[in-house]
Amino acid sequence: MKKIAVFTSGGDAPGMNACIRAVVRAGLHYNMEVLGIKRGYQGMIEGDFVELNSRSVGNIIQRGGTMLGSARSDEFRTAEGRKKAYDQLKKYGVDGVVAIGGDGTFTGAKIFMEEYGDIAFVGAPGTIDNDLFGTDYTIGYDTAINTAMEAIDKIKDTADAHDRLFFVEVMGRDAGFIAMRTGIATGAEAVLVPETKTYIDDLVASLERNAARNKMSNIIVVAEGDDEGGAFEIAKKVKERIDVFDVKVTILGHIQRGGRPTCMDRVLSSRLGIAAVEALAAGEKGIMVGQRHKNINYVPFEKAIKHNQRLSPYLEDIARILSI
Ligand code: F6P
Repeated sequence: MKKIAVFTSGGDAPGMNACIRAVVRAGLHYNMEVLGIKRGYQGMIEGDFVELNSRSVGNIIQRGGTMLGSARSDEFRTAEGRKKAYDQLKKYGVDGVVAIGGDGTFTGAKIFMEEYGDIAFVGAPGTIDNDLFGTDYTIGYDTAINTAMEAIDKIKDTADAHDRLFFVEVMGRDAGFIAMRTGIATGAEAVLVPETKTYIDDLVASLERNAARNKMSNIIVVAEGDDEGGAFEIAKKVKERIDVFDVKVTILGHIQRGGRPTCMDRVLSSRLGIAAVEALAAGEKGIMVGQRHKNINYVPFEKAIKHNQRLSPYLEDIARILSI
């Protein structure tokens, strides 16, 4: 393994820069040449590669976003696009690739390797959604939940001042990890996640009990992929059933994707970046490196991406017990 490349793909996540930095410096430590690929798979197809050295990744560990840029590439979904990417990797003499991204990134890497097995791909779990199996946490998740928590705390202040019912929507695509932890951390009256069916009538009954004891300030945290829809849809359904509340809706949106990574995310990203390089050096391919119970874990791509990551039941118990 003499020359490797690193790229970031899919939704960016705080900590991706720390991971890129670790990949570059670990690669150099193990006497490899390291290339950066700009803009994910699309940059791979276009040959948008850049040589990286230790100084290239100086002063980025604390920065959100990704110095390499990210993108979603429809062209890479085609055999022709993947052939172009393969030709570029061969032209640059790349032996191995570190893919920092989420399930879409690893799905693409898996298909690519089925077609071109002579270039090894190893993944690092870079997504705020925390929905990859084989790692306790993904890069960016800790930062995103702290960002969302601070935002919801602020909403709680004004909800309390005006005795309002707020529906706050958080990201997660079709997973409820961000919603569950931020809902618990902010003392939300209810947390609605895709993993557990939402019953609007039960939610209304709970709100009616609160109104009966004059508890008019309420926070409902809604994961964007909830089975009953996002925050606006759910607020509408609730208002059709009960009209005693002054109802507001806030969509946190992409602020959850930015910001300076937390200490936990910087250290996790650094560890996983090194682990990915060491996996390539050891001849591994087609796996994601993860951290499970403080140990580095190799997970085949197909296992990491199949939504095998389950919401911890104890978290749902906490949310239910403490939301009375
Ligand atoms: O996968 C990360 C994520 O932030 C999801 O939580 C969200 O649904 C999606 O990306 C948003 O994608 P985009 O940035 O393309 O709108």
